[in-house]
Amino acid sequence: MNIAFIGHGNVGGALVRALARHGHRIVIGVRDGGSASADALASQLDAVSVLPAAQAVAGSEMVFLATPFQAVEDALSGLPLAGRLLVDCTNPVGPGLTHGLDSRMSGSEQLQQLLPDAKVLKAFTVYGFENFDDNRYPGYGELRPGMFFCGDDAAAKSILAGLLQELGWEPVDCGGLDTALQLEHMTLLWIKMARLRGDGSRFTWARLRR
Ligand SMILES: NC(=O)c1ccc[n+]([C@@H]2O[C@H](COP(=O)([O-])OP(=O)(O)OC[C@H]3O[C@@H](n4cnc5c(N)ncnc54)[C@H](OP(=O)(O)O)[C@@H]3O)[C@@H](O)[C@H]2O)c1
Repeated sequence: MNIAFIGHGNVGGALVRALARHGHRIVIGVRDGGSASADALASQLDAVSVLPAAQAVAGSEMVFLATPFQAVEDALSGLPLAGRLLVDCTNPVGPGLTHGLDSRMSGSEQLQQLLPDAKVLKAFTVYGFENFDDNRYPGYGELRPGMFFCGDDAAAKSILAGLLQELGWEPVDCGGLDTALQLEHMTLLWIKMARLRGDGSRFTWARLRR
């Protein structure tokens, strides 16, 4: 798949590496003037290149958004996102580990309002970036770490679910984009456990069913 990235830091960089390992063609979209860190990342990996953001998005089937939440509007301004799958990896986190939009609405719904013609999906948010490049948890048999995701477009969700499976996750479809608010609160829980309480970043959640 041709995949564009807007944001290539902790989260974007980890996902670029994971997707490139699975044979996807990645284009990192950068701002005017280029980005030394994007060039450095691309130079380490086959099938990863760097282009101005609008060109990167124009040639892609799926776009990953991995900028700070506060930068989203600026980062996406003028990009040809109508009709495109947009995987929102951002989290609005406020002071004192509160929801950054005071839980009035999710960041993903706000993003969808900003880009009504894009197919917004939320994924790769509830865990730390350390789990995105390496999501192996040996010793659990067939059980895979769960990747909770949501979105309103059924076809887009099916493509994302296939990609998640390929990357070694169990895709856990949580519902429509209105569920993003709950996922953003799961993020706060994960951060509290991993980074504040000291459990460390090497854990995910999984789904058991009967
Ligand atoms: N860190 C985690 O474990 C984690 C896990 C899940 C989700 N998230 C969420 O994922 C997002 C990214 O987090 P991160 O830790 O990867 O952040 P990060 O390491 O600081 O990376 C942010 C990226 O966004 C780019 N960027 C910043 N402002 C931009 C703008 N105005 N236009 C275009 N690009 C811009 C940066 O480019 P430059 O370097 O060129 O400025 C950088 O590539 C956040 O919303 C965060 O809440 C984080």
